[in-house]
Amino acid sequence: MAILKVNNLSKSFGNVKAVQGVNFEAAEGEVLSLLGPSGCGKTTTLRCIAGFENPDVGEIHLDNRKITTIPPEKRGIGMVFQNYALWPHMTVYGNLAFGLQIRKVPKDEITKKIKKVLGMVQLEGYENRYPRQMSGGQQQRIAMARALVFEPEIMLLDEPLSNLDAQLREEMRFEFTELQRKLGITAIYVTHDQAEALVISDKIVILDQGKIVQSGSPKEIYSSPKNKFVAGFIAVTSFIDGRIDSFTEEKKKVIVKTDDGLVIHGFNNSFDIGKKVSVAMRMNVIKFIQDENKSDKNTVNIFKGKIIQSSYLGNIIDYKIKVGNWEVRTKSDAKYNFKVGEEVTFYLSPEDIIVTREE
Ligand SMILES: Nc1ncnc2c1ncn2[C@@H]1O[C@H](COP(=O)(O)OP(=O)(O)OP(=O)(O)O)[C@@H](O)[C@H]1O
Ligand SMILES: [Mg+2]
Repeated sequence: MAILKVNNLSKSFGNVKAVQGVNFEAAEGEVLSLLGPSGCGKTTTLRCIAGFENPDVGEIHLDNRKITTIPPEKRGIGMVFQNYALWPHMTVYGNLAFGLQIRKVPKDEITKKIKKVLGMVQLEGYENRYPRQMSGGQQQRIAMARALVFEPEIMLLDEPLSNLDAQLREEMRFEFTELQRKLGITAIYVTHDQAEALVISDKIVILDQGKIVQSGSPKEIYSSPKNKFVAGFIAVTSFIDGRIDSFTEEKKKVIVKTDDGLVIHGFNNSFDIGKKVSVAMRMNVIKFIQDENKSDKNTVNIFKGKIIQSSYLGNIIDYKIKVGNWEVRTKSDAKYNFKVGEEVTFYLSPEDIIVTREE
């Protein structure tokens, strides 16, 4: 059952259409991520749900209550803001107590709630610390505790990990997931980090310029991106544009031809012949063939190219290869030690090729 429903939400600032006709639902206990590039309307969507922004059009329902116009503090929502906004002049206790004091919660109850919530985020005994006396990760957990202390029905988190260094961010992803599962709380999680979204979400909604481009489970989005934008956004991907030339007898297989004469076999049967499409290749799909005389059962998708760039990453090497008029990238085992300028032959398994809309 959906606990949060966002229907046809639109919000403009002057002539900037920040959010345009956005629809999504989150089920109870689910993590739904809003993912998209900077400026695509993620924070605005979240602020409309929280009640800090009035939508121009649309409705928001929480637990079957229409909350579109009720004040933020009456919505039963906890929010963790982009860059977490802890008050620097207040201790942890002060930061956590503030909202409860406004709501006139009795003092001993406040103390109890704070103790409980600090336990949840594994910072027992931190009541008297100031934000500056804590690490970034600890401050981030206090920001989460500040949202949890109201026992909200739903949590909204706006890029809560964006201020942390890469390693800590990865650790915190797991901690967040663990805490969220333990509490069974529904969360709407804003991020522009695709890896983060894939790891923590039950459902991902991809936004571009205020509109939903695609929504679905991480697996659906990763394996069947609806267009070039999604494919490129969700993973480092190379593209070769062409047209659907024909279908093979095998179900779902299509043959794409490019203007410069490449013939690529891939998957997707939802396009008509002649349709302009983009062939999407992830970093790991290119397989080098070193000994050309070696018998190989693969007869299609064998290409010749030239290494134009190589970055050594320890156990793997990131190559850029020129194929026809195109450039493709691959991460490859460091045992293939090619030089820049070297000619290479490689194979693409049709199963690994995503044929997607060009636009
Ligand atoms: N208060 C405001 N007044 C005017 N324009 C605004 C306001 N808030 C947001 N915008 C504009 O609306 C668009 C969406 O902004 P929003 O903050 O929702 O993006 P975002 O997806 O959260 O981006 P980021 O990843 O950079 O945080 C942007 O073009 C932004 O400049
Ligand atoms: Mg934002």
